[in-house]
Order: sequence, then C-alpha cells, then structure tokens
Amino acid sequence: MTTKITRRDWLVGGTALAGTMIASKIASAQTVPSPNLNPTPENPIRAGFNENVYGPSLKAKKVMEKAAETAHLYEFSGQMKLNQVIAKIENLPRDHIAIDNGSTPFLERAAFACAIQQGKLLTSDPAYMSVPSTAKMIGVEVIRVPVADDLSIDIDAMRAAMTDEVKLVYLCNPNNPIPSIIEKNALREFCIDMSKRALVLIDEAYYEYVDNPDFASMKDLVTEHKNIIVCRTASKIHGFAGVRMGFAFANPETLRLLVGPFNLSLSNVAVAGAIESYQDLEYQDFFKQKNRQSMDILEKMFKDLNLDFVKSNANFAFFNAGRPSTEIAKKLLEHGIVSGRPFPPFTNWVRMSTVKPEEMQYVVDVYKKEFG
Ligand SMILES: Cc1ncc(COP(=O)(O)O)c(C=O)c1O
Repeated sequence: MTTKITRRDWLVGGTALAGTMIASKIASAQTVPSPNLNPTPENPIRAGFNENVYGPSLKAKKVMEKAAETAHLYEFSGQMKLNQVIAKIENLPRDHIAIDNGSTPFLERAAFACAIQQGKLLTSDPAYMSVPSTAKMIGVEVIRVPVADDLSIDIDAMRAAMTDEVKLVYLCNPNNPIPSIIEKNALREFCIDMSKRALVLIDEAYYEYVDNPDFASMKDLVTEHKNIIVCRTASKIHGFAGVRMGFAFANPETLRLLVGPFNLSLSNVAVAGAIESYQDLEYQDFFKQKNRQSMDILEKMFKDLNLDFVKSNANFAFFNAGRPSTEIAKKLLEHGIVSGRPFPPFTNWVRMSTVKPEEMQYVVDVYKKEFG
C-alpha cells in the first residue's frame, strides 16, 4: 500500500508526516510506501539490513519501468551516460570510474586481486564482512586490527600491523557495524602512506549520510595515487539494494583489476534508474531528513534508558543493550521487528538500522516495554 504526500511534506517532514493525517492527502509530487505499523514476523519492520526503507525515488522508478520495456537489449549506451553523470557529480575523470552491480563485485574482486599477488589482507575488526570473508574463503590470510576503546578504527594500530606481505588494506568509512568515521587528515595520510606498499580500498557505502566536519571522502586521492580505490553504492541513500548499482573510483590501470573494460553484466533498468536517481537531489534530501528524524528517535531512547551508543554517521545505530543481542533480536522479532545480526566480540551490542520515523517510534515503544 502507498500513501501520496506532497513535495512540501517531504521537505517539512516531522509532524507533517504524522500517521493518518497524510493518509488522506492526494497530491502530485511523490509516492512513498506507508509505514508498517502492524508488523508481524512474516511481514516485519526491517531494521536489520541498513536499507533505505522508502525505496528508490519516484522519478527513478518511472524511468526503470520504462527501461524494463527494453530489458531484452544489452546495456551499451546508458553506462556511458551514467559514467558522465557520476564524473560530473564527483569531479573525477571519466576513466577513473567503474560501474557494476553494487559495490560487492568490486569488494570481492579486490580480495581476489590480493590473492593473485599471494598477499595478506589488513583490515579493522569489526568491518563490513564482504572483503575479509571473500579473502578468507580463497585462502588469503586476514590481519584484523581491533577497534580502539572508543570503538573507532585504530589507524595507529593498523600502521603498526602493516607488513610487506600485506597487499590489500580495507577500511569502511563510515564503518559498519560501528557507525564511526575516521578523522579526515589522519585517514588521508594513512591512505597515501599505505598505498606506497599495497592497494588501499576505502569503502564509502554510507558517505551520503555523514554530517560531520571531521569526515572527508578519499575520492580526490585516486587521481594522484595509483593504489587507492574508493567504492560507493546506490544501495543505501538511493534505495537500490535490490536493483544493484555501485561504483569504484581509481586509476584506470587499477580499475582493470576490478572490472573489465566494458561491463556487459549491467542491467539497463539499474543504469537508467541510477542516472535519474543521482540527479534527484530532492529525494536524497528527503531521505537524509527521514534518516535524521529516525536517528533522533533512537538516540533519545538510548539517552532515556542510559544505554551506551556510538554517535552515528550512517543509517544505523550501534548500542550496548547490556544483554546478548540475540536475546534482543528474538524478542523484537516476536513483535515483528528485525534487528541486526550479532557482531562478536560485541555480543551485547545491537546494530539497529533506521526505518521510517513512525516505524522507529514503534520499535522504541516495543524496546522500552520489553527492556526499559
Ligand atoms: C560498508 C558496506 N559496503 C558495501 C555493502 C554492500 O553494498 P552493495 O549493495 O553495493 O553491494 C554494504 C552493505 O550493507 C556495506 O555495509
């Protein structure tokens, strides 16, 4: 079921979106799915996967519907246009941008590139699992450097753990499952230094959410430093997790390690949708605003219940529930809420993704009732 809301609702948000008030509004601009306020284990509120629960923008959906009419044709020209759009937005040369079905293909191939060089992988712990799991699966030794006491990525300890055998350094910024960031100057220096000895991959899946003066994308480094790769995804703010679209920024020669010269495996639907979505700034603002509202609701609960949490720079929170996260997950699921999987050794910490503000309030009400 969907509810029509006006562009003003999008931009004003907050109370303007409250419950039944908007249900009766019939307006022109955008259509977003209604909150799920009667969730069940079979039809749950998905607060476990760091998705955009509103889905792609209406403009992107329209274009994708149209593109589906030519789904029988190989995608040739759209990717050129998408490359142009991204180059303009990011201010990067076109040959420094590769496109694939999400960022996962790039992450996995970076692990394979490391294996081909018979190298080791250096990463923080915890980090997003794709690169370390792939590396482990294909026999690459993974050096995991635990986060610091404040749960931030410990750049100094990573420097200390670097050896000549390391052929790939992988970091997420913001990190996942801990939504912290690495201070921009320290990270820049780290990337430049490490790239003299190995490939450095910075995964910026959540960069659009960051509102923190200490953060900077490392994309500018890729034109000067051949061994630095920055990955991005449309799965988060653009709501393309199921459509699949991602990017790698690097020197053209480095990109050849990650993708062929012309990518025949791209979907014309995804390419057309991404061209539209990356230019739909209104939607990106809308979703960022919704994310902030939901995060405020969550953080208020942490404060009300005196729970330790890491200030979030993404679309998910990480908090110490003071009891096993598996226990929390089981109880929440009984109420139709899916929360994040366990992240050992942080077995008492819960990763909770933002959902629509109305759903977030439901999650908080349930949590307070069960565990408050
Ligand atoms: C840090 C990070 N990188 C990459 C991904 C996967 O992104 P994609 O959907 O683009 O493959 C995720 C997914 O949650 C993630 O958290």
